Amino acid sequence: MAKRVSILDQHKKPSSARVRVAVRLRPYMEKEDEKAPAACVRGLDSQSLEIVNWRNQLETMQYQFDAFYGDSATQREIYMGSVCHILPHLLIGQNASVFAYGPTGAGKTHTMLGNPSQPGVIPRAVRDLLQMTRTAAGGPENENWTYTITMSYVEIYQEKVMDLLEPKNKDLPIREDKDHNILIPGVTQKTINSFGDFDEHFIPASQNRTVASTKLNDRSSRSHAVLLIKVQKSQQVSPFRQLTGKLYLIDLAGSEDNRRTGNQGIRLKESGAINSSLFTLSKVVDALNQGLPRIPYRDSKLTRLLQDSLGGTAHSVMIANIAPEQKYYFDTLTALNFAAKSKQIINKPFSQETTQSIAALPAMKRPREEAETAAGSRQRKKSKTDSTESSPNTSMDAASKRKLNLAALDPAVVERLLKLDKILTEKGMKEAQLLSTPKRERMALLKKWEESQMEIERLKEKQKELEQKAIEAEARLERGQWAL
Ligand SMILES: Nc1ncnc2c1ncn2[C@@H]1O[C@H](COP(=O)(O)OP(=O)(O)OP(=O)(O)O)[C@@H](O)[C@H]1O
Ligand SMILES: [Mg+2]
Repeated sequence: MAKRVSILDQHKKPSSARVRVAVRLRPYMEKEDEKAPAACVRGLDSQSLEIVNWRNQLETMQYQFDAFYGDSATQREIYMGSVCHILPHLLIGQNASVFAYGPTGAGKTHTMLGNPSQPGVIPRAVRDLLQMTRTAAGGPENENWTYTITMSYVEIYQEKVMDLLEPKNKDLPIREDKDHNILIPGVTQKTINSFGDFDEHFIPASQNRTVASTKLNDRSSRSHAVLLIKVQKSQQVSPFRQLTGKLYLIDLAGSEDNRRTGNQGIRLKESGAINSSLFTLSKVVDALNQGLPRIPYRDSKLTRLLQDSLGGTAHSVMIANIAPEQKYYFDTLTALNFAAKSKQIINKPFSQETTQSIAALPAMKRPREEAETAAGSRQRKKSKTDSTESSPNTSMDAASKRKLNLAALDPAVVERLLKLDKILTEKGMKEAQLLSTPKRERMALLKKWEESQMEIERLKEKQKELEQKAIEAEARLERGQWAL
């Protein structure tokens, strides 16, 4: 059975736990003969930009991201700066994802796919992955391992998962296995040994994607396209270990203001499905940021599929595409606000890294703490102060000073801290104890956590039972209709 290996096992320097967010501004495209007003967005440096405040034209609002790419940035710059560093994770059995977000016509498909003279993220990542596995297989320490790369390609069109490699596979289900991996049973998988193999499957499949002309984009994507590249590393000698890393490359359909797209009929219906799944995406992001116990992944196919890419088990990069024209102003503002929220999502494989660096925790919690501070909680104000004093690998004295206010932490973070704390304690690494709280408090929390896990299991069972009942009821209804 495939086994996940943490970065710590590999003695690799851990990277940050957040979803990495890059913003890309596309060039001005208003027709030359139109009297074009100035662009509504302006880059400030390689990480920040500003946009005019619509409430007060004399003011601007500034945003900072992991990277900002201006309108002259090349496809290569975006790939090298924000994408290629996540690929090595795949070779050690971890998941990664890159998704392009933004309003219609802002350049998502250009960023992900590009064209033959300006190839985008997808062809570049596939080429590099093939090369990386070849190099790894040829390395002196890797003679006992082989690498297999497979691809699947689906679109989510009007809430249905369609197989682009085999168009007769319509409306495929999305399932979760016991290790919380998201699967699409029945989806076509093609093995690729070379870039030629990839092109052979990918190019015709891309033509199966639903694209149509709207007022804002001649070739507007009417579906979310998800390319899944699986890297399987198999040991050829006992104990025959197998590691599987999945890379999702996602070109989302853009949010649409139908007053401006002029959509009607089927285009309007498509647009409804697109906007509603993007709305669910934004709810998922909100819920993750607020540490809510229920994340509404199941409310749309898109978020269900992205479950292990957002707050799940993947290393994620989001490229928010924006357009400079004034007519895009509110779309741009919405995309920037969404991107700013996404920066705060913490993904699970990084939890161990995150907890290695106590200093990282206050930064993760800051937005929530700010909200809490605004609500006037004295205790929580203290938590913010404590967190800024924290630093990793310090003496016991310093450790006692950095005591965390566990009650104010996201339960998911507490859960991960407790797990790691337990592992480190078992390994005799007392100095590294992460919580630095009295033992009794840790035990009480551990107990509480175990109880909540049991409650979750119970609820899952209940849900399964109800789903089964619903299926049976549906079947009875159908039989009744046939009888009529
Ligand atoms: N960085 C860029 N440089 C040059 N042209 C670009 C750039 N970004 C986008 N374009 C062009 O802008 C147009 C719209 O881009 P694209 O189709 O990628 O938008 P989109 O965000 O995918 O829209 P939709 O959501 O409707 O699918 C295309 O003609 C594309 O070639
Ligand atoms: Mg597109």
